[in-house]
Amino acid sequence: MSGVNEIRGTFSVTYDHRVLFSDGVFEPGNAALADVMTPGEAGRPAGVLAFIDTGLAGAMPELAGRVAGYVRGWPGRLRLVAEPVVVPGGEAAKKGTETFERAVRALHDAGLDRHSYALIVGGGAVLDAVGFAASVVHRGVRHVRVPTTVLGQNDAGIGVKNGIDLFGRKNFLGTFSPPVAVVNDFTLLRGLPAGHWRDGTAEAVKVALIRDGAFFEWLDERAGLLAGRDEAAMRRLIFRCAELHIRQITAGGDPFEQGSARPLDFGHWAAHKLEQLSNFSITHGHAVAVGIAIDTLYAARTGLLAAADADRVVGCLRKLGFELAVGRGVSPLGRERLEPLLEGVAEFREHLGGQLSITMLRGIGQAVELHEIDLDLMQRCAADVLFADE
Ligand SMILES: NC(=O)c1ccc[n+]([C@@H]2O[C@H](COP(=O)([O-])OP(=O)(O)OC[C@H]3O[C@@H](n4cnc5c(N)ncnc54)[C@H](O)[C@@H]3O)[C@@H](O)[C@H]2O)c1
Ligand SMILES: [Zn+2]
Repeated sequence: MSGVNEIRGTFSVTYDHRVLFSDGVFEPGNAALADVMTPGEAGRPAGVLAFIDTGLAGAMPELAGRVAGYVRGWPGRLRLVAEPVVVPGGEAAKKGTETFERAVRALHDAGLDRHSYALIVGGGAVLDAVGFAASVVHRGVRHVRVPTTVLGQNDAGIGVKNGIDLFGRKNFLGTFSPPVAVVNDFTLLRGLPAGHWRDGTAEAVKVALIRDGAFFEWLDERAGLLAGRDEAAMRRLIFRCAELHIRQITAGGDPFEQGSARPLDFGHWAAHKLEQLSNFSITHGHAVAVGIAIDTLYAARTGLLAAADADRVVGCLRKLGFELAVGRGVSPLGRERLEPLLEGVAEFREHLGGQLSITMLRGIGQAVELHEIDLDLMQRCAADVLFADE
């Protein structure tokens, strides 16, 4: 006799997703970081292993010493298990398994256990690669993120994902692993090169366009100020993006992306492909700006979005300082040779499985999911953005 027996139970896990803002987080008296890392059982100080991005270490040579000094300054609470580990910054950190393996080894050598903390200080790429390592060692060592780029503080660091690039594919390997906390220190951004300062503003335009029309107006009015490195405007931008992200993750109904829609990936199918086809000479934020322009043009040409709104979006990206006609710098592409880019649409679906779902705009601040894309039209939109100068 055939039959099915089943034993079933359900459980859920609650995450407290926290983003703290404080200037000078490694100053001896600043309790923000010490407070998020709780001592272990019987009040045993929590072991801490810090990882620091080389780019940041280059801009602030004394930082590794300050981080170590900070941890030593909370003897009842924290325990420095080893000197901070400096890891390569930028996309190199995510390319293949090298940095990931280095971080796994460092976590092993330092004897980090599940009551200890990996303290990851760096740009989005380092947060992704080292966060991935922390998420698989002992099936998950707790980690705290201290993002040190604008894009890290307003986007990458706030998310619950990590990952590395493998087989030439962006984020092919990775996990969903929310950090214990994200601690944003604006003062760490002061040594950022201009391009990386600008990069994060593309993600701000993205989240404004899909969620908050008034925020887009605000951004559009202050684009010149932001491009000119106005700190007050950038602080506001980062805070508002973090709020919108936290809301999407905690109230959006799909924090671990089990459905097919990924609204926070608006403009990203093209962005991921442009990064890869340019051999990462186009940075993530820059590629996102170009990807937003392509999808915005598509939305306008399919009649979803008013042409005047599309012009404003593209105008805002330009005011922020983004060069959008980057096609000639991406050698596999030409005005009549855009198939390698369009493969990004299929890869986007494949990454998630299930139905194709591309976020588009039907107004400023209003997202809509499309399940079919007219690839010929998309190709013409991409050509008009990427080769606008030909
Ligand atoms: N996990 C996610 O949800 C998520 C979301 C968005 C983006 N990302 C990923 O984040 C990455 C991009 O991150 P990013 O824009 O922060 O760039 P990045 O991490 O590549 O850093 C850019 C450069 O700035 C340097 N740097 C970092 N902090 C610095 C500082 N304070 N001063 C001087 N130099 C500094 C780095 O060494 C690097 O050379 C991409 O790989 C992208 O895929 C992940
Ligand atoms: Zn992004």
